[in-house]
Amino acid sequence: MRLDVLSIFPDYLAPLRLSLIGKAQAAGTIRLSVHDLRDYTHDRHRTVDDTPYGGGAGMVMRPEPWGEAFDDLLSTADGDPRPLVIVPSPAGIRFNQQLARELAIEPWLVFACGRYEGIDQRVFDHTATVARVIPVSLGDYVLNGGEVAAMAMIEAIARLIPGVVGNPESLTEESHEDGLLEYPVYTKPSTWRGLAVPEILLSGNHAKIDRWRRDESLRRTARQRPDLLQELPATELDKADLAI
Ligand code: ADE
Repeated sequence: MRLDVLSIFPDYLAPLRLSLIGKAQAAGTIRLSVHDLRDYTHDRHRTVDDTPYGGGAGMVMRPEPWGEAFDDLLSTADGDPRPLVIVPSPAGIRFNQQLARELAIEPWLVFACGRYEGIDQRVFDHTATVARVIPVSLGDYVLNGGEVAAMAMIEAIARLIPGVVGNPESLTEESHEDGLLEYPVYTKPSTWRGLAVPEILLSGNHAKIDRWRRDESLRRTARQRPDLLQELPATELDKADLAI
């Protein structure tokens, strides 16, 4: 997968060089490039923002550097299909595991990280004539800019690409994969500060362990995220689930 990130703070994305995502770049599974939007300015101060038309607080990102940056990126398409441009924004559609799965099969994603009050709307209107553009929100809260959101999305997406996470089984057993939150997990020692690991996990009876884990997932989801249980299609529940 090809990934490009446009930002006025490219250093914000530095942690993506570490750990599994860093290894996936070294292995060539993902090709990540971070671009400094200020490289597309032409004045001494490398200006990227200005006051909003219509008045109001804060600054808006000017369209010219964005336009030039997109022109430059798209000119490197080199046979690649058109990219999907993701604009991290609290006004976007909600990011979740389902969207991460859909994005993980795209060949080319571009993250356009805005700052201040946002990017001049014409950038999106124009870019939408040459690429698909979707604003995406991490959740109902406001960050200082799109960089942290882009980083979170890139991590969630990249780990679904085959070969990025060493053991693919660990992907199917985690929170949100089956619409539920993950069950609690334990490791050695079997007793720690007077707290024992649930007996059943030491029993070696895998059918019973699976059932216990499923029940714990259901209980935890009901307690912490009742909205997820509500959304779960009835076909996802079995008779034993309905008994708890
Ligand atoms: N930029 C600022 N806040 C954001 C959010 N909640 N999600 C995505 N991008 C953002």
